Amino acid sequence: MEIRVELTQNPKPKPAPGEKLGFGRIFSDHMFLMSYKTGKGWYDPRVVPYGDLALSPAAMCLHYGQTVFEGMKAYYDGEKGAIRLFRPDENFARLNCSNRRLVIPQIDEELCVRGVKKLVEVDKDWVPRQEGTSLYIRPFIIATDPVLGVRPGDEYLFIVITSPSGAYYESGLEPVKIYVEGQYVRAVRGGTGMAKTGGNYAASLIAQDEAHKQQYSQVLWLDGVEQKYIEEVGAMNVFFVLDGEVVTPELQGSILSGITRKSSVQLLKDWGIRVSERRISIEELDKANDEGRVLEAFGTGTAAVISPIGELKWGDKRMVFGGGKIGQLTQRLYDALTGIQYGRLPDPHGWSVVVCDA
Ligand code: PLP
Ligand code: COI
Repeated sequence: MEIRVELTQNPKPKPAPGEKLGFGRIFSDHMFLMSYKTGKGWYDPRVVPYGDLALSPAAMCLHYGQTVFEGMKAYYDGEKGAIRLFRPDENFARLNCSNRRLVIPQIDEELCVRGVKKLVEVDKDWVPRQEGTSLYIRPFIIATDPVLGVRPGDEYLFIVITSPSGAYYESGLEPVKIYVEGQYVRAVRGGTGMAKTGGNYAASLIAQDEAHKQQYSQVLWLDGVEQKYIEEVGAMNVFFVLDGEVVTPELQGSILSGITRKSSVQLLKDWGIRVSERRISIEELDKANDEGRVLEAFGTGTAAVISPIGELKWGDKRMVFGGGKIGQLTQRLYDALTGIQYGRLPDPHGWSVVVCDA
């Protein structure tokens, strides 16, 4: 399918070099759209000027949350003068998994990667160049039928917007403090935890609100049945350097299969480090930490990159890792991953994809 391009006649001023970007607050000049109707399939892939959507107030997505999304980034490679993506095929494979769970029609993954590349190329001057910044890319799908009955939609919009962004956490690479949620749950097996869908994030807000009140930046979720096993943080998967190996909760349906998680596991294995994907309870972690057996804790995510975890608050207990400082392995992983993403280091697995010249 041919991708149509309609350029804006009113380009916006871009952020000035050195301007603090924050995360997801500024949007580029264009967006990618593609429409769907039952019987017709996906049609009219197009890059058009960024702008508001015209949507019926009865649109299904607004009422029953039939939505899915992805998160990826475009990186400025100053050495080679190129713009790069990181494993974009993985994002659209995962979007199709989310689609299956939310009964949204499958997308053509190759066409979506092409759509993102076209959009990034058109808006390449929006890819920020300062250290640690990137163009955050948000693909998403919404059901647009103007119908109040609860059923899967017959009409959808696939949209990609982009946002020049800095660090997700204001603290940057400083260790984050995280609140372990003991009352609410985010997802249960058989639910939608493994899908990237708005409802999961809506369900998490009450705990995030409480965490913020207590000066914690994020929430660590425990399993939805026994509230015993560690699952993931609101926007990242978690890892612990424990007893000479790296432990991360296994994928069993209620947590997101993170692309940064998968890449980190691969890099650690490449380095000959043992990685164990298994159930780990909060009690086990606490006991091991009390006994000095937990050397580091970190989270992984597209927005969060590799983020050291300095402290977990679990009830009255404060678990501090690595003296609240970034650990050696966490730093090594951050350097290796960002090195590949920005094209500074060799890329043995072919994860980094050049989109265009900068
Ligand atoms: N877990 C949740 C709930 C997330 O929202 C994210 C962010 O996308 C992640 C984990 C990390 O996934 P990825 O590394 O693919 O960005
Ligand atoms: C990402 O890391 O891309 C995410 O989607 C996290 C988001 C919820 C901010």
